Amino acid sequence: MNILEAPQGKFTLNRYPIRPKDQLRAWDAADEFILVHLHEQALLNESSRPLILNDAFGALSVSLALYKPCTISDSFISHQGIIENAKTNEINEGNITLQNNFQPLQGTYDLVIIKIPKNLAMLEDELYRIRDYCDEKTVILAAAMSKHIHSSTLKLFERILGTTTTSLARKKARLVHCKFDSALKPGKSPYPTKYKIDITDETFSNHANVFSREKLDLGSRFMLEFIPQSTKYSQILDLACGNGVLGITAAHLNPMAKVSFVDESYMAVESAKINVKQLVEDASRCDFKVTDCLQGIDNNSLDLIINNPPFHQNHVVGDFIAWQMFKEAKDKLKTGGEIIIVGNRHLGYHIKLKKLFGRCEMIASNKKFVILKAVK
Ligand SMILES: C[S@@+](CC[C@H](N)C(=O)[O-])C[C@H]1O[C@@H](n2cnc3c(N)ncnc32)[C@H](O)[C@@H]1O
Repeated sequence: MNILEAPQGKFTLNRYPIRPKDQLRAWDAADEFILVHLHEQALLNESSRPLILNDAFGALSVSLALYKPCTISDSFISHQGIIENAKTNEINEGNITLQNNFQPLQGTYDLVIIKIPKNLAMLEDELYRIRDYCDEKTVILAAAMSKHIHSSTLKLFERILGTTTTSLARKKARLVHCKFDSALKPGKSPYPTKYKIDITDETFSNHANVFSREKLDLGSRFMLEFIPQSTKYSQILDLACGNGVLGITAAHLNPMAKVSFVDESYMAVESAKINVKQLVEDASRCDFKVTDCLQGIDNNSLDLIINNPPFHQNHVVGDFIAWQMFKEAKDKLKTGGEIIIVGNRHLGYHIKLKKLFGRCEMIASNKKFVILKAVK
């Protein structure tokens, strides 16, 4: 089930974090298609410099570790998954240079492999970014499941990098081939972009891969009305902070409190940093962490956690991350500490909170959302 058989070898690959009954594989047919194509066309050799974008759990980076790839991902969980899967396969992790989208690239890559992300803004930002590290000899190979490749996807490649064609489908996946055109002048990435929130009259900056990049999420909007204010909160945490909208309001309402912002997306945390700097008067009381849920936060250290939990990991929808967040939240809260969350009514988060905390209070609700509070 978790063995990827590719022309490059057999690799044991797990999704991260590992969930005992997880039936899903850590790779898809698009990863397999890329690996077969690279082999059939002999696109890699000892002197290759491959650059890999958006590898989820190492299907590409681990299989191609021999060629010392540089792998870029916005996801902390993907970084962890790739490292763990390299270890499982006794591959020297040092062979894979893992970076986020803010770390500098160097030189020219002769092979760029892109797992096309769900979010087209993210793809656009990435194509702009890699343009400076390609030349006419660079082979640019992208792939995704066919249902995720649209004409708008291909237009981005055409506009930013050069002439683009697609392959026939294989196991419902497709390759995208792009010929780098140095004569194109596509300009610069438009990200981060900004929008103003009417209720607070504040302008938020948003990197390309940030949740609700174009406008305030309806759940967050509802939650803003119920962020509590009290001198009893000395340490507040915005869990899964996105652009930081909830934590920034908490910081305004609780001017003596320290406020931490955590998210597993590097772009989310960078956006929150920009917004705190712009919008919070005493920004030095805020800190930031890229992590999986609450990993690395001290137990019994928090008075208040505010949270608009995610309901999917890439293409996989579910409440497993929310569940992990609530469980870890209980460990991190001080006795008497509170967690306040917003969620779609139908998700049944109150059942989970009640199970963990013994009680769960509904603070507010509207047609779509509920705001729930649990106390440790
Ligand atoms: C529904 S959004 C909320 C964002 C922001 N708080 C808001 O209200 O606009 C959920 C956030 O959870 C983050 N996320 C997903 N999985 C996570 C994980 N395992 N650990 C930390 N953050 C995660 C996503 O990157 C996303 O920013």
